[in-house]
Amino acid sequence: MNFITVKSYDELSIKAANIIASQIIMKPNCVLGLATGSSPVGTYKKLIEKCAAGELDFSTVTSVNLDEYVGLNGDHDQSYRYFMNTNLFDHVNIDKNRTAVPSGISGDLEAEGAAYDKHIESLGGIDLQLLGIGLDGHIGFNEPADVFTKETHVVDLHESTIEANARFFESIDDVPKKAITMGMGAIMNAKKVLLVANGANKKEILEKAFFGPITPQVPASILQLHPDVTVIYSEN
Ligand code: F6R
Repeated sequence: MNFITVKSYDELSIKAANIIASQIIMKPNCVLGLATGSSPVGTYKKLIEKCAAGELDFSTVTSVNLDEYVGLNGDHDQSYRYFMNTNLFDHVNIDKNRTAVPSGISGDLEAEGAAYDKHIESLGGIDLQLLGIGLDGHIGFNEPADVFTKETHVVDLHESTIEANARFFESIDDVPKKAITMGMGAIMNAKKVLLVANGANKKEILEKAFFGPITPQVPASILQLHPDVTVIYSEN
């Protein structure tokens, strides 16, 4: 594991964007696994700048996102599809037909999960998976549990996750209680993993996840078993 500590969120974003840009330059038709949340917003801004400067071409890139809230459709301004469109896809030359976010409004979420895994498999897996980390150690929305779940599945969001994400909604009652998330199988199969985390409040969980025991109670700890993980952390 490569654990990089940087001095600012801007430095974190520049480094993460450079790593993603290198992936795209080296393999223009790569499959990127993408994340939402506040951590990667700066990274996406830097990627947009590179694309606008003509340094980066997304035209043959395919993407698969980690997760989506159950019950929100893609037009909802807190849905993760909306987030991806507004924070990245609308501003780079990616073909939106090549971008996938699990559907949170499918009538059969189990079938949606199975189809999502098939889709990832049909792409040959993920070349580079970008992750954030929750305060409880979740990656995607794989919350602390008794077991690691391999497949894309529906989860009950934990109280700490609902509280952490309430900042994006008008009130905590508006935060969906369930999400559909990629499981550990597709994440662990990714050829490279890049995890970005910022803020002093993430320090403790990062220590547990990357230097503590591997346990499904700290879902990100499974990444200790991945052969190519880079973590970029900024306390500020
Ligand atoms: C988002 C996701 C989550 C976030 C995590 C951290 O797609 O899968 O695991 O990465 O909740 O969120 P932030 O970055 O807002 O602290």
